[in-house]
Amino acid sequence: MKLMRECRPQACLELGTCLGISACYQAAGLHLNGSGRLLTLEGAPEFAAIAKKNFSQLGLSNVQVVTGPFQRTLEGALADLGPIDYAFIDGHHQEMPTLDYFGKICAQANPGAVFVFDDINWSDGMKRAWRTITQTRNVRHAMDLHALGICVYGVP
Ligand SMILES: C[S@@+](CC[C@H](N)C(=O)[O-])C[C@H]1O[C@@H](n2cnc3c(N)ncnc32)[C@H](O)[C@@H]1O
Repeated sequence: MKLMRECRPQACLELGTCLGISACYQAAGLHLNGSGRLLTLEGAPEFAAIAKKNFSQLGLSNVQVVTGPFQRTLEGALADLGPIDYAFIDGHHQEMPTLDYFGKICAQANPGAVFVFDDINWSDGMKRAWRTITQTRNVRHAMDLHALGICVYGVP
């Protein structure tokens, strides 16, 4: 939530909703900011349904869940959101999918977009993915917080 309050992103994307707990914190931050919207993607319909209920019970109308595999839903979510200011990648923790999602989101990220990756030290593949991300052109301020990695994209 603090990141949302500090960075004040408008178009926000999350990969991996699960029950919507992280989405609730992020959406609450946007709500306190007074602007911004979060689309969160989840493959399991049962989880997505619980997340929707959680958003509704908390009165969070600035977050929507899109159900289906990222491979199928990411493109539509990007088209819906437009230029991205913030992305939290917290699902499908494998090297190549992580790099693929990162590349697709970068392709329409606003300068200074903030990316957060969960579980960057969870496996050798995720360690390699994070290393590749930190060495990507125009990636700045990469921080390894052990469980989480945070970086800024699009600042030359
Ligand atoms: C670690 S959980 C997300 C936790 C959530 N961000 C939180 O902190 O409250 C990862 C979620 O990603 C979903 N997931 C994993 N791979 C996926 C894929 N390829 N497409 C869609 N959903 C996927 C899983 O079903 C799971 O609910």
